[in-house]
Amino acid sequence: MIGGFWVELARSGREFYIPEGKKVLEVLFEAGVDVDYSCELGICGTCITRVISGIPEHHDSVLSEEEQAANDKVAICCCGCKTDRLVLDL
Ligand code: FES
Repeated sequence: MIGGFWVELARSGREFYIPEGKKVLEVLFEAGVDVDYSCELGICGTCITRVISGIPEHHDSVLSEEEQAANDKVAICCCGCKTDRLVLDL
């Protein structure tokens, strides 16, 4: 699912609900979280973030198949989540 899950930021403990139709990056940005991004299309790699737990659903064109399969990092501008919660190293 693209939306409809929780994102937890491990460094601050803040939690955000990502509603359907919204991107993780959008929600974090609107909440004033300092996130790096550029293309918002999954092609530049600027927003790649380490995943601490949860299984992301990859929709980027930056990570290799192997990297996507490892599920330890994700492009937050275009990812979904296969679990209820995604914990990010942010
Ligand atoms: S901002 Fe370019 S890949 Fe996410």
